[in-house]
Amino acid sequence: MKEHKNQEQKSKEEGSSEVSRRDFLNEVTGGALGIAAIGAGIVTVKYISPNVLFEPPPTFRVGPPENYPINSVTTITDQLTYLVRNPRGFYAETMICQHLGCITAWHPEANLIECPCHGSRYKRNGSIVRGPTVRPLPHFAIRLMPDGTLLIDKADIVPMSQILKV
Ligand code: FES
Repeated sequence: MKEHKNQEQKSKEEGSSEVSRRDFLNEVTGGALGIAAIGAGIVTVKYISPNVLFEPPPTFRVGPPENYPINSVTTITDQLTYLVRNPRGFYAETMICQHLGCITAWHPEANLIECPCHGSRYKRNGSIVRGPTVRPLPHFAIRLMPDGTLLIDKADIVPMSQILKV
């Protein structure tokens, strides 16, 4: 009888140890599933949220025409734009080389816009002097606003022949 009681006690202890092992495994499994769910949630949110690049607005003002002497090329670095004034008026064009996108530089001594990457050369009006580029520099729309300032719109590409007369 005593032996039977000991056996029962032992089996109860084993049972309780089995339950605690089960609890442990349940907790480990629950934790692993929780971590997997959090990871999947992060990936899903990243996938759903748009890959938006916040850029400055395409239009910007550059002050009154009097600020720019005739036959001048002004580099507007933060907008990657050249503003050119010739005896006929104004035009604006990109500083971005049309070969592979390097930033060009105006060289007044050579009267040329030059790309430091692969040697493309442009006249001040953006037409090609030398490749490897096969495309001239695009011109942007430019307007004289009612308040007397010039406004450049980089979203509006205009023909190279278009000049703002002021
Ligand atoms: S990027 Fe200007 S020449 Fe290649």
